[in-house]
Amino acid sequence: MSQIPREIIDEIIHRNDIEQVIGSYVTLKRAGSNLNGLCPFHNEKTPSFTVFPGTKSFYCFGCGAGGDVISFVMRTENLDYRSALETLAQRAGITIPADDSEAEVGVPRKRLYEMNLEAAKFFRNCLFDERYGKEALAYLHEERKLSIATIKHFGLGYSPNNAWMLTNYMKNKGYTDEELVVGFLCGKSRNSGRTYDYFRNRVIFPIIDTSGNIVAFGGRVMDDSKPKYLNTSDTPAFKKSRHLFALNFAKKHCEEQMLLCEGYMDVIALHAAGFENAVATLGTAITSEQARIFAKHTKKVVICYDADSAGQNAAQKAMRLLSEVGVEVRVLKIPGAKDPDEYIKKFGTDSFRRALGESKTGFDYNLEKIATSYNLELPEEKIKASSEACALIAGAYTEVERDIYIRRAAERLGISQEALKNDVERQRRARIREAKQKESRDAQLSVKNIGDRVNPDAAKHIKATAAEEALLGLMLIYDEFRRDAANKTVPISADDFVTAFSRRVFEALCELENSEAGYSKAMLGQMFDIDELGRIERIEIDRRRLARNDRDVFMSCIDSIKQEKNKLSEQSNDPFEDLRKMQEAIKNKKKDKNT
Ligand code: UTP
Ligand code: MN
Repeated sequence: MSQIPREIIDEIIHRNDIEQVIGSYVTLKRAGSNLNGLCPFHNEKTPSFTVFPGTKSFYCFGCGAGGDVISFVMRTENLDYRSALETLAQRAGITIPADDSEAEVGVPRKRLYEMNLEAAKFFRNCLFDERYGKEALAYLHEERKLSIATIKHFGLGYSPNNAWMLTNYMKNKGYTDEELVVGFLCGKSRNSGRTYDYFRNRVIFPIIDTSGNIVAFGGRVMDDSKPKYLNTSDTPAFKKSRHLFALNFAKKHCEEQMLLCEGYMDVIALHAAGFENAVATLGTAITSEQARIFAKHTKKVVICYDADSAGQNAAQKAMRLLSEVGVEVRVLKIPGAKDPDEYIKKFGTDSFRRALGESKTGFDYNLEKIATSYNLELPEEKIKASSEACALIAGAYTEVERDIYIRRAAERLGISQEALKNDVERQRRARIREAKQKESRDAQLSVKNIGDRVNPDAAKHIKATAAEEALLGLMLIYDEFRRDAANKTVPISADDFVTAFSRRVFEALCELENSEAGYSKAMLGQMFDIDELGRIERIEIDRRRLARNDRDVFMSCIDSIKQEKNKLSEQSNDPFEDLRKMQEAIKNKKKDKNT
């Protein structure tokens, strides 16, 4: 990747006050010289997200997200480094010089977007071309009752029943086999190695992000054959779990509420009927990332899933994920139809609007489900029903909510409020106890660095990691230590490091220090991914919290790192390692006895 000049990055950081930028996403409360808030990157009820205006950085002590204002925007807006930089540059009225050396690994995101746009045009032209698209147009227009205006609004298309038509078209436009395969427009034959069209004889639904880029496609067969839909798989430039179908249109209509559907066809039918706040996930169950997208855009979501049991089970997960991010949830009932698309066609728009108005809160929906799945005349069944209701109510966070639910459930199931209340409180205490235990287990695991993606070596080399991180922390905070290490005026080099991640950070710091433009922490954004940036932030914060950070500490870190490294190389060279260890153990035992 071509490097963006340091002065520009520094300027962008300087002109985008971190407090203001983060403050526009997160409600921040001042705590001394820092600010606290609820972390936008994981679900929490007590704030562990901190903004440090002094160092122009942020860090979440809960989930480990951290970095500068650029990595904050990367995370919240789901952007790559350059796009985040562009967003912030625009906010501050700065222009970034054009990125001319596109020597990125793989295919650059921008190129994929252009390629998808070109393919979308091809699909659309085929749909409206008598020679290819007659049947497909009849399917969409006559069978599925979509108006031509709606078909055009959503940019629908058709991929002809031919294995090379798109491939040839795109190659003529200058796209390579590799690009077409990476972008999932083509597959590659295992036998001949030849590329072929991925979508064949399907109506095509382009998936457009909120900036207007076509990021993926869905393609539906026009009969009952399987698979019903093919979808673009995840690529480095596209993650299904972070997009919602039709959000590009819905974002202008969703302040008050949004409708979450299962299918592309439901969304299109709803938009056509005037419900332009409808979106769908892309052929997968809703993810927590998507739940956060909802939370960013709206206050309330009505789940409009299919009436079958799969749809109703999926609704449970959606309810949970959406309430976790603080969105008010309702669930729609559509008696007499299998999905919203069919409901509107059968009963009309007004009827659907009425059904929306009658949609139930998550609690009422679940209470009803419990009440109707047991025979409340029978004592044993009634007991089971109340214990399920109990579990449901115990999950509510506030006492007021629980109070309201207890009254409702008691009435619906025909039991006393007092009894229900006692059971609910007992369950809650048990849950809190469990949560605390889990928290301390998680904390212990993270101290031991088990399952550490950023620095997988850390678990095996706890002492070395500690010394390395201490040294890196000092180099991050103090110019003189960084200079000394980079100039090699102190006896430490990249080879002395035990863990690969620490070594990379060390090398990056030295490289930047020795670069013509000089060191700027902001430049790390171009060298590490967002999780790694979070770790670097933690390394610095851990160090800042300590009172003693002088040259003695710095030198002793160097000693420890070298010692750990030596131990390691001795181990790997020493054919008598086991024997030596045993002897050492015996020696230590003797020492213990003597003291
Ligand atoms: P549905 O089967 O409900 O399809 O799947 P639909 O969109 O409502 O289409 P119609 O009404 O039958 O024409 C819901 C969603 O699940 C994904 C698609 O995103 C679809 O819109 N899906 C379904 C797949 O990705 N692959 C499949 O094979 C089936
Ligand atoms: Mn459907």
